[in-house]
Amino acid sequence: MRSFLFLIVAAVSLAAAPARSTPSPSPALTPAQNAEVEAKITALMKQMTLEEKVGQLNFPSYAFPRDPQLEDVRKGRIGAMLNVANADHVKVFEQAVAQSRLKIPLLYAIDAVYSFHIAFPAPIAWAATWRPALAERATEAIARETAQIGVNLTFAPMVDISRDPRWGRVIEGAGEDAYLGAAFAAARVRGYRKGGLATAAKHFVGYGAPEGGRDYNGAQISLAELFDRYIPPFEAAIEAGTETVMASFNTVNGVPVTANRGLITDVLKGRLSFDGIVMSDFAAVAELMNHGVARDRDEAARKALHAGIDLDMEGKAYSGHLARGVTDGAIAMAEIDAAVRRVLRVKYRMGLFADSPGGRRTVPPPISEAAVRETARAVARESFVLLKNNGAMLPITKDSGTVALIGAQALATNDHSWYGPAGLEKPQTETLRDALARHLAPGQKLLFAEAYADPCGLAFKDEAQALATAKAADLVVLVVAEDCAASGEGVSRADLGLSGVQQKMLEQLSDVGRPIVLVVETGRPLALSDANAHAAAILVAWHPGTEGRTALAEVLVGKVAPSGKLPMTFPRSVGQVPISYNELPTSRPSTGDRFTTGYIDEKVTPLFPFGHGLSYTTFAYSGLKTSGPYLRPDGTIDISVDVANTGKRAGAEVVQLYTRQLVAARSRPVRELKGFEKIDLEAGETRTVRFTLKATDLAYHDDQGLPVIEPGIFHVFVGGSSKADLKGSFELKTK
Ligand code: NOJ
Repeated sequence: MRSFLFLIVAAVSLAAAPARSTPSPSPALTPAQNAEVEAKITALMKQMTLEEKVGQLNFPSYAFPRDPQLEDVRKGRIGAMLNVANADHVKVFEQAVAQSRLKIPLLYAIDAVYSFHIAFPAPIAWAATWRPALAERATEAIARETAQIGVNLTFAPMVDISRDPRWGRVIEGAGEDAYLGAAFAAARVRGYRKGGLATAAKHFVGYGAPEGGRDYNGAQISLAELFDRYIPPFEAAIEAGTETVMASFNTVNGVPVTANRGLITDVLKGRLSFDGIVMSDFAAVAELMNHGVARDRDEAARKALHAGIDLDMEGKAYSGHLARGVTDGAIAMAEIDAAVRRVLRVKYRMGLFADSPGGRRTVPPPISEAAVRETARAVARESFVLLKNNGAMLPITKDSGTVALIGAQALATNDHSWYGPAGLEKPQTETLRDALARHLAPGQKLLFAEAYADPCGLAFKDEAQALATAKAADLVVLVVAEDCAASGEGVSRADLGLSGVQQKMLEQLSDVGRPIVLVVETGRPLALSDANAHAAAILVAWHPGTEGRTALAEVLVGKVAPSGKLPMTFPRSVGQVPISYNELPTSRPSTGDRFTTGYIDEKVTPLFPFGHGLSYTTFAYSGLKTSGPYLRPDGTIDISVDVANTGKRAGAEVVQLYTRQLVAARSRPVRELKGFEKIDLEAGETRTVRFTLKATDLAYHDDQGLPVIEPGIFHVFVGGSSKADLKGSFELKTK
């Protein structure tokens, strides 16, 4: 928890937040061991030359031929390396470390974000499970695979909150909500660390809010909103023990984060008490010149260091310019020392030195491929979101008759994992066609047509054959995929419809008259209004990974009931973006009248709201109770609700708790997620679910970014989506 005080106010009150002056202890070490670490660092730094100190801050990418880099390691000019993705290469660098004067161990980092060998579903799919424990299992498995080669740091988790599906990197995060995002940030950090990797919570901060949804673009975010919406997942990651934080590429309020002392030193290192390493993103220090805040690399290096960036990732700015800055008097030695101390602190805490106080780091034992696959499949099964299911088209049963599976993506064995070490052999992946054929009832016919020339439907292969196939069947399962190159870094979209000719195919198939089940593989929310008009059922499968198509078949035939819920709003059209469930009220709430908020050419509501997702069974909510009428600043209040499985089969439901503060000094969101629990219920079973809220859970932030707890009436809503209508209330009393 942040260490500075909450302001409990009758009205808004302003006060300076005290920063924590001493580093917070690493969760793995005792206070005495942390003190020992600091003493060891002091002793080591006494022996280091300026060149060796600057070397600790230099973080280049693995290059070939590598001899010059090995020589740099021997000379102590490199502190960390990225993209060493091979055990033999790590060994070669380790030998070079052993030949260096001070033998300071290296950090080896790669983007093991959602895959090493076996690809997991994309992280946005993890969030759609609403089971943080699954994300923890996933990251532990990924880390255990990765750590075997000697890599010790992953550039993950990505914890950026985003309300803008145009931004391609929403695939790597947990969606639009700070509370859900914080829960997944913590789980992911815990999992990677258990599996033997240190973590980099990224990208601090506001990278998910680029103007126009365009990657790398600047963001304008008030301090209040930064703390309310964007910082909570970083706090959660820090609390869970992340060793490093990566700064974001973009500007926030006009200043690049890489040169933003207010955000890096005052907020992250000061107010959030983060005492680990803050690294730049790739080449971001040098790119301060592109931002127009540095004339040359000298100035870029000086500004980044002063802002609080400890490691220069592939910027070649610190290595070439810091030492001269010190000699010239432009850079204070104390700033270099402070950065070096952080780098060494993390290395000691990780147990990289032979005499690390917590003991020498050991890599957890390898994990079998079968076990990793099983975890990947468990995540996939719970991540699919059933957006609609008119006429109970799903699950496919014997009564569904002949099934026509259409779409080249049903032959795909790729996993869309854009982040994963290059050069690794791709694991065997079952196609959806094979998986579905295996899962249909005995004797049930499966017809197939590719329809498209490429998996993502950018061009037709044979429309006529697809239509004939549909005609010969009773049910059509059409698989569509977002343009395969469209997710991840540097791939923002201005159009969020189905890519290529997929919409056209859907409309033609719709004319055939068979009910259509649309399976959507995507890395981001899409604007599916046009598709929705032609589909009886829509199942969002995200990018499901190595085991994904097998899990998909299990869900399509009802072996597993879908239980995912949207971690991000699905808009009706791009013009509604950015969009989220927790918007502020306006002076003119939408009524449909002209002079109320809305669009003249679009509804104001999303197509599918945050938290939405159906199952093959149904759930009913009743009996909402609060434990009393009041909540005191130091007290708690319980909110309980009865959830019944009213259908004919077992299923899992995500019970969601939202609050709204009716009147405060600032406008408060119309709803805010404050709790959730995923429960498994047998048919006919009822369970009481209880949430406990503290006053601090209801705090918001003022213009200085300070937390405020303000008395007043709160409404609570509990249900299966952000549209939950079961309502109660209580009063927060501060007097
Ligand atoms: C740039 C990306 O923004 C970051 O997330 C990633 O970890 C680095 N490249 C290193 O590959």
